[in-house]
Amino acid sequence: MAETIYLDNNATTKVAPEVLEEMMPFLRDRYGNPSSIHRFGGLVRSHIDRAREQVAALLGAHPDEITFTGCGSESDNLAIQGFYRRHGSATNIVTSMVEHPAVRSLCRFLRDHDGVELTEINVDHEGLLREDEFSRAKIGPHTLVTLMWANNETGVLFPIKKLAETVKAAGGFFHTDAVQAVGKVPINCAGDPVDMLALAGHKLHAPKGVGALYIRKGVKISPLIIGGHQENGLRAGTENVAAIVGLGKACAMAQACFMEEATRVKNMRDRLERALLTSCRDAKRNGHEGLRLPNTCNISFEFIEGEAILLLLDEKNIAASSGSACTTGSLEPSHVMRAMGLPYTLAHSSTRFSLSRYTTEAEIDAVVRALPPIIERLREISPYSNPAGPQ
Ligand SMILES: Cc1ncc(COP(=O)(O)O)c(C=O)c1O
Repeated sequence: MAETIYLDNNATTKVAPEVLEEMMPFLRDRYGNPSSIHRFGGLVRSHIDRAREQVAALLGAHPDEITFTGCGSESDNLAIQGFYRRHGSATNIVTSMVEHPAVRSLCRFLRDHDGVELTEINVDHEGLLREDEFSRAKIGPHTLVTLMWANNETGVLFPIKKLAETVKAAGGFFHTDAVQAVGKVPINCAGDPVDMLALAGHKLHAPKGVGALYIRKGVKISPLIIGGHQENGLRAGTENVAAIVGLGKACAMAQACFMEEATRVKNMRDRLERALLTSCRDAKRNGHEGLRLPNTCNISFEFIEGEAILLLLDEKNIAASSGSACTTGSLEPSHVMRAMGLPYTLAHSSTRFSLSRYTTEAEIDAVVRALPPIIERLREISPYSNPAGPQ
């Protein structure tokens, strides 16, 4: 099988070879338990400490403010459920209509099962937060505001610093799901008044099975997994040492080169986008042009099902996505596209291309060549664009 052209990096990323190399000793010989008294375990503990420093450095945080988890969803759950367990029935939550299900479904669960007061802020047609609506939200000492840094489907960025400042001035707490942002845009937790920030290793070239939650010193939440004393009592269970070491290395690599990488990736993304928008009829970009992650391009090819595009791309060994990976399989158009007010014919045809540092110019050329004929072919058989139906 020919090499896959992988443009689905917002779903997950390739483990960087350097990361894998760093992890291997902990899967082979260094299998000690970091909680053991003996030196065999102690050595492993020192590598977890180092990884914590590397993650903290990328986020502009102190190592003590980093808690390792199992994935991005767990980090979001620890932040939100951990806050709720601490603040109890007084809790109210403010979030947006376009959050990933890790936040959106959890907030709705807490509303429906625990009676938590929930406010969901709308976005405009470009995916930007309706700040007028946000400014009217009720925020007090038991409020958790949870807003994503970057949207997984469109890449649109919310103005996190400004939003967090508003929340802090009103006496509330601010959590951000930064799973798509970490390693792609600069983050400085020390400078921005963010209380909690979630990330996932597999989105930045570390393996699956590891994530982290930044918790600002002094912010108190309750654990979800109770047992041993690991992670400062916030997440019981023997650590996934190899994955944590890998996450540390991935963060160090991102920190070393992400500005220059971001520019290179953005140039390729812009070239891909321009080419598709000009060579495919009725193609429209979804999401604000400038306020976006450098790697993400989301285009609707009106009158065509996104899934059909993906299947024909797949035949050419090109991997892309329609909606988020977690909602693929459902026939409902993505909640993000619906929140942006896209009509049915555009929402259903939304297709996401997400690049990484491993994407090459030659791969972009191949997609630019492959996609326009696919779109034309599907248009010919689309019942929406061809009222006579398939001939
Ligand atoms: C914005 C966002 N938040 C949370 C998650 C969940 O991360 P994980 O799959 O590591 O649980 C994802 C995954 O796609 C995401 O894109």
